[in-house]
Amino acid sequence: MKIYIDSANIDHIKEVHTLGFIDGVTTNPSLVAKEKNISFHDRLVEICELVDRPVSGEVISLEAEGMIEEGRKLNELHDQIVVKIPMTKAGLQAVSVLNREGIKTNVTLVFSATQALLAARAGATYVSPFIGRLDDIGVTGIDLIKEISVMFNEHEIATEIIAASIRHVEHVKLAALSGANIATIPYDIIMKSMNHPLTDRGIEKFLADWDTREA
Ligand code: E4P
Repeated sequence: MKIYIDSANIDHIKEVHTLGFIDGVTTNPSLVAKEKNISFHDRLVEICELVDRPVSGEVISLEAEGMIEEGRKLNELHDQIVVKIPMTKAGLQAVSVLNREGIKTNVTLVFSATQALLAARAGATYVSPFIGRLDDIGVTGIDLIKEISVMFNEHEIATEIIAASIRHVEHVKLAALSGANIATIPYDIIMKSMNHPLTDRGIEKFLADWDTREA
């Protein structure tokens, strides 16, 4: 499973990029809205130039024509851009057109395996099932990753599964074990994922022992 960061914050992206395990970036309108004094398009280009990996930028239109137009403009910004499109009827129409033009898409806000199948068949490069938001309503989100993974394997569908709406470290492990190709993870959870209390205790003990050595 590859690791993406789910962020539009350039400082966070820069920091995690140095860690060597980041294979892409996803943004969404809520994340972009937190960023001040920079346009959406400029920020996407800035991220693309920094990471040189797939970077998802989301359309705002609700109509297919508008999504297609936005998608084409996003695609022209940089060759690493993936056009993120919500899982709606209009969204699928837009995915189908953009796919025929060779533009990569990430169908977002996927909450059922059937939605994932339709998005894949429409030509989506990626689908993003939101596991945390399912957990929030009392449905086990990770089960959706398993279902989509089984379905895509069974039918030899090449669309990649991005486990999204990751809320805690356990989600990262479960996404990998459940067949996600990618997990897109918020900065704070990436930071927590690196830690373990026994690692800290082990370092303390090694250093304490080191201090007792005879010169
Ligand atoms: C994925 O691409 C989305 O940006 C993201 O994972 C949404 O997560 P949230 O449910 O924490 O907002």
